[in-house]
Order: sequence, then C-alpha cells, then structure tokens
Amino acid sequence: MREFDESSITDAVVARMAGSRSERTRQISEALVRHLHAFVREIRPSPAEWEAGIGFLTATGQKCDDQRQEFILLSDTLGVSTLVDAINNPVSGDVTETTVFGPFYVPPPEFGHGDDIGTAIEGLPMLVSGRVRKASGAAASGAIVDVWHSDEAGFYDVQQMDKTGGLAGRGRFTADADGAFHFWTRRPAAYPIPTDGPVGAMLAAQGRHPWRPEHIHFKITAPGCRPLVTHVFAQGDVYLDSDVVFGVKESLIQPYVIHPSGDVAQGRTMSGTWVSLDHTFVLDDQRQA
Ligand code: BEZ
Ligand code: FE
Repeated sequence: MREFDESSITDAVVARMAGSRSERTRQISEALVRHLHAFVREIRPSPAEWEAGIGFLTATGQKCDDQRQEFILLSDTLGVSTLVDAINNPVSGDVTETTVFGPFYVPPPEFGHGDDIGTAIEGLPMLVSGRVRKASGAAASGAIVDVWHSDEAGFYDVQQMDKTGGLAGRGRFTADADGAFHFWTRRPAAYPIPTDGPVGAMLAAQGRHPWRPEHIHFKITAPGCRPLVTHVFAQGDVYLDSDVVFGVKESLIQPYVIHPSGDVAQGRTMSGTWVSLDHTFVLDDQRQA
C-alpha cells in the first residue's frame, strides 16, 4: 500500500517496524507510535499548533548543555520521572522510599564525620545526622553517602559558581561501623526550578508555580544493596502538597528542628539559632540493581 489516511496510517507505521533489531526495540517503537498517533487524533492539531509543539521540543533541546538539562526538567514537571521511579522502586517493607534525582548532582568532594560542607554558602548552621542500615537489620557500615542541597536563597553551587568559588553544600561521607554519619552545613530553602527556558514557559501557560519544598538530597550506596536516591523534606513547608516535580512522599518528611542560641550541639555551645535533622535510611538488600 502506498497511500495512507487517518484510519490506516498507524498500522502502516507499526508494520514497518516488524524487523526491528530486538523485540524490546519493536515493542517500544510500536507503543510510541500508537500513543503518539492517539495523542494527535485526540488533539487534532492545526498545522500551526503542530509547528509550535515541534518548536517547543526544539527549544528544549537547545536549552541543554553540560550544566543545564531541560529535558530532565520536562520529564520531572510532567510527572514522568516520578512514574519511572515508582515503576522501578515499588514500596518494599521499611526500605526508604526513593524520589527524583534532579539535575543538580555532581560527584561531591569527600569529607570526614563532623566536617562542615557549608562554609562557602549562606544560611543557619545545620547539623545533619543519620544512620544507614539494611532491610535485613544489619548496619550498612562503609555505606557511601552523597549529599547535596541549596543555600538559604534556594540556589545550588552549580548555579552560582562565581559566588561559591567551587562546589559547596555537597559532600561524600563514609558511614562508620554502626552505619552512622554526621556533618554540619547551612539550612537550605524551598526554591523554584529554573524558569528561564521552555519548561518555565510551559508552567506559566499551565497556570502552575515552579516551587519545590525545602529538602536535602541523599544518594546512598553499599555493597549488596540497591542504590538509594532520595530526599529528606522539611516538615511544615508550604509546598509539600504542590511540589512542581511531584517528588514528595509522606515517609520522607522530617522535622528540621530549630534550636535557640546557647544550646549545645555535638559538644559545641552555639552562639546563634541553629537547626538539626536526624534520619535513618534503610537500604534494600534483597534487590541489588
Ligand atoms: C532538585 O531537587 O534538585 C530538582 C529536582 C527536579 C527538578 C529540578 C530540581
Ligand atoms: Fe533539590
């Protein structure tokens, strides 16, 4: 057949893919074509609307470079990142729940227990302590704990290297024999995701705000365990119910406890208000990858 119309085009495209190099490629290609065609049949775009759609995807690609990943932002804000995460990391016993990775991870510098990873950023002093154990019960001694978060104005180091002079508000810790770790930093803040690109324009057009509730990112790995990518969110944040990237889970919300000046932290009498967070992370040692 040479000629196609609205009712014959989908099957014709799918048939051309029958010789795909692998069954998975064929399955993915067929689903993509069927869903994309169903979308177009539902929307019935005018040529100008279809051109605008292609323009949007083109601008999304053009906004990407080695510092900025606009397609990840698009996936995050359309809930696709959370859907992929939910499919791959179903809730399992008391294993710590996962959430989106986000675009601001870079491998962090190593620090020792009690070090301060926030010397180059502004914010209230914050003591973060935690422990890592396996779902089967044992401490995950030697677990590698990567941490990253924004400053008090809601910016990550990689967004303001001119100000921080390098990586800041991020670090790598090795859990001790009991699976424990602790460090000092500065309290982060809720922040809007970058809105100066096509995703920002999309959010505005959809009448959505761009904010994420205050959180600290953790990526934890240990031999024999499934890697954990998660956040710990600040209890009481106004954006917990409307996170622009749909990343919040009830089990990941913890008090960021405010302490008055004069309170003692890790043997230090503090001369101003400070904040503490403590959390236990449970790794899945039944499923490794
Ligand atoms: C983040 O939490 O760093 C983040 C996640 C998704 C989109 C933008 C930022
Ligand atoms: Fe973040």
